[in-house]
Amino acid sequence: MKTLTLTRPDDWHLHVRNGAVLKTVIAHTAKQFARAIIMPNLKPPVTTVLQAQAYREDILQAIPAGINFTPLMTLYMTAATTVEEIKLAAESSYIHAFKLYPAGATTNSDAGVADIKTIYPQLAALEKYDLPLLIHGEVVDEHCDIFDREREFVDTHLVAITRDFPALRVVLEHVTTLEAVQFVEFAGANIAATITPQHLLFNRNAILAGGIRPHFYCLPILKREQHRLALVKAATSGSSKFFLGTDSAPHLTTLKENACGCAGCYSAHAALELYAQAFETAGALDKLEGFASFYGADFYRLPRNSETVTLLKSAWKVPENYGTGDVSITPLLAGEELNWQLQ
Ligand code: NCD
Ligand code: ZN
Repeated sequence: MKTLTLTRPDDWHLHVRNGAVLKTVIAHTAKQFARAIIMPNLKPPVTTVLQAQAYREDILQAIPAGINFTPLMTLYMTAATTVEEIKLAAESSYIHAFKLYPAGATTNSDAGVADIKTIYPQLAALEKYDLPLLIHGEVVDEHCDIFDREREFVDTHLVAITRDFPALRVVLEHVTTLEAVQFVEFAGANIAATITPQHLLFNRNAILAGGIRPHFYCLPILKREQHRLALVKAATSGSSKFFLGTDSAPHLTTLKENACGCAGCYSAHAALELYAQAFETAGALDKLEGFASFYGADFYRLPRNSETVTLLKSAWKVPENYGTGDVSITPLLAGEELNWQLQ
């Protein structure tokens, strides 16, 4: 049987929520990845070092016994974030970044930043303390077409942020367009990007052609095929600027299959398998290890992992849902067959 052994990977962009959903999803990530950057968009958001410490404890409690997994915490940037909090975060051993959500851009982003100019003192502090800024790069202007929101953000805000804070380390999260890829490629070594499995595997037809499929709806939304091809090229190029970030974002099935469905794809159940499928289709399985296991750690200045994981080329069927009782989460490609399987 064909196998693929890699250095154990990390997930550099992950939502695990809290409460019963956290308990349902965390084992999926912990069995695949050694570490994950945990998004702070809870209700209410995680804005202080103390809150992140409590959230970290909850996550550690939820990990099944015997699995070695480290959550890497982030704080949610708001207009009220103080420079003192940024200093505290930089001094703490478990906060690894701040997350910037434009207000209203996506799930639980109401507390986000309405005008980036108002957080310039905070961005200066991040630059000074050398703490990365993770950006959800979409404008929220209602006049801007939803398919153009990332490109517009790159042209206006990202150009300004990287010009005004040239030493700031920035991750443009879950890039979805050719324009975002090009921006990151031509920017300095301190600018990187994560790429999700769904944006490598699917274009917008997956959501809209032949019926509306809410489990493919996430933000930034899937784009045209030409953009998917640009993402595959970037991810498989061997460039250390692009690394794995699933953006696995669980929502209850009832809230996805809804007249106004939530944004987010749940991919933690088969994250590495999904990436392996995308890299294999591109004829670039040899590039998967750098993308999944090396470049993110290098960017965050953390040691690369030393254990390994093995994928088997062995087809399996993705369950229709995960969870028990009130929790039912429909995974990406529910009921479909995947070629690779984590040993
Ligand atoms: C994320 C979520 O549900 O928290 N949703 C999504 O569509 N990606 C938020 C985010 O990362 O935008
Ligand atoms: Zn996300």
